[in-house]
Amino acid sequence: MASVTPLSASVEQQLTSALSATLPEATDVDPLLRRSDRADYQANGILALAKKARSNPRELATQVVAGLTTGDVIKDVEVSGPGFLNITLADRAITENLAARYADGERLGVAPKAEPGVTVIDYAQPNVAKEMHVGHLRSAVIGDALRGMLDFTGEKTIGRHHIGDWGTQFGMLIQYLMEHPGELAPPSEVDGQEAMSNLNRVYKASRALFDADDDFKERARKRVVALQSGDKETLELWQQFVDESKVYFYSVFEKLDMEIRDDEIVGESAYNDGMPETARLLEEMGVAVRSEGALVVFFDDIRGKDDQPVPLIVQKADGGFGYAASDLTAIRNRVQDLHATTLLYVVDVRQSLHFKMVFETARRAGWLGDDVTAHNMGYGTVLGADGKPFKTREGETVRLEDLLDEAVQRAAEVVREKAQDLTEDEIQERAAQVGIGAVKYADLSTSPSRDYKFDLDQMVSLNGDTSVYLQYAYARIQSILRKAGDVRPAAHPELELHSAERALGLHLDAFGDTVFEAAAEYAPHKVAAYLYQLASLYTTFYDKCPVIKPQPPQDVAENRLFLCDLTARTLHRGMALLGIRTPERL
Ligand code: ARG
Repeated sequence: MASVTPLSASVEQQLTSALSATLPEATDVDPLLRRSDRADYQANGILALAKKARSNPRELATQVVAGLTTGDVIKDVEVSGPGFLNITLADRAITENLAARYADGERLGVAPKAEPGVTVIDYAQPNVAKEMHVGHLRSAVIGDALRGMLDFTGEKTIGRHHIGDWGTQFGMLIQYLMEHPGELAPPSEVDGQEAMSNLNRVYKASRALFDADDDFKERARKRVVALQSGDKETLELWQQFVDESKVYFYSVFEKLDMEIRDDEIVGESAYNDGMPETARLLEEMGVAVRSEGALVVFFDDIRGKDDQPVPLIVQKADGGFGYAASDLTAIRNRVQDLHATTLLYVVDVRQSLHFKMVFETARRAGWLGDDVTAHNMGYGTVLGADGKPFKTREGETVRLEDLLDEAVQRAAEVVREKAQDLTEDEIQERAAQVGIGAVKYADLSTSPSRDYKFDLDQMVSLNGDTSVYLQYAYARIQSILRKAGDVRPAAHPELELHSAERALGLHLDAFGDTVFEAAAEYAPHKVAAYLYQLASLYTTFYDKCPVIKPQPPQDVAENRLFLCDLTARTLHRGMALLGIRTPERL
């Protein structure tokens, strides 16, 4: 693993030392380096510094330029406008930098951070005995992408799928199953779809009985008590619901082309044993107080109707624990036992108040210290074409599988239309990669906190900011590399670069910085935007700079193929971070 210093960092460092030498009294000098169309980079920071030092910005800029040594990296600096610097890099420096990235394999010369933290990331949390819907899609897709990005920066990530596997609804389900044994087939005998349809059937039937029959209702209530007190037979049946649901979850995650580890499925029930202690400690510390029999936490700034305080309920008046108690207990586990330095929750923004209260409570209790960050990456709603929350025509929530199946079907149409020499099996395989990629990319290319419209036509379009467009760019490069035959990619630092080659090269150099910035901000859309721009810069380069036809001199052809290949590798890596495949042929 050989890390490569980004060109921008070298330039920035040289500028900063020239600035400090010219203005020794200035602290915190930032040259504000940006990519620019006029030269390779522009530095705008001198304006603000001159203002502070009460000196003329153009004069200051001229002094800084005089103090800069041009040579290896910087070829030329010019003062422009009121005191900007236009900086041009040496062609050799650009090509050598890219060649070093090319030689580094998977990491593309990007160094992992020196002092990684531990991020426990809570994502992809469906509920037992319930169908997954479009909201679960967002948590899974965003969480998986954030994890890929964080891992790439060197952060240690631990996944927690906080599935909804506990609650009073299980009393009804278990009681029904006791009275109607054999309604759930053993998990080993069913596939995901059968598992879910069995669960649905049991759910509907038990619900109907619960609503119609008061005696059953009473038996179901008693079953809740038996479940909570750990009755063996009751727990065994509860486990059957969990196991059957996992068969279903895994089938959906597989369809989503997402790896979920069994040891990271740690649902609400996993924290049951710790909840009484959580409550006791909170009460002893005075963080929680008794109010109308319940144990609650109040917050000055959280109020509802009539300015009444809205409390967090740790324990209900009947002694039962709920969602907040399990989340508080999970925090203790994640910080104390998993040694998390960051807790990240990829959960619908509509739960943000819950997390605000849970985090504040944990801080008051000392379970979350100053050295631990807690963040709810609250995502927005998936909307239908009409701009309202995505529903079926009948007004029901859309089943996640149906939606994924439809996306793959649409993708198959697109792939079939373009495919010349693909077999039907190959078309189906590519369709899955294109269709699932399209769904993921549409989600990830908008800021997570915003709502977005679920529009399959747009998602599988070949034009515009879609994953298919990026996948085609990748596949096209692979085809060029195949067509090049004996001419192999090779860097030639002695060659002069075309402006389209420099633009592409400088963007390739910025991959690592982009991923680090996006990971720190939990912003997968910044990676998506980077990749889209990469594909656009590549298209311009390919238009302006012939690679194979008309045939350029051998060294030029090799150098251009090298740029093609590095672009492909960067596209591949970037898409992989987002959980999206790049087929070799499309
Ligand atoms: N299962 C919940 C739902 O479907 C999400 C769980 C979020 N995670 C948590 N630690 N509370 O809405």
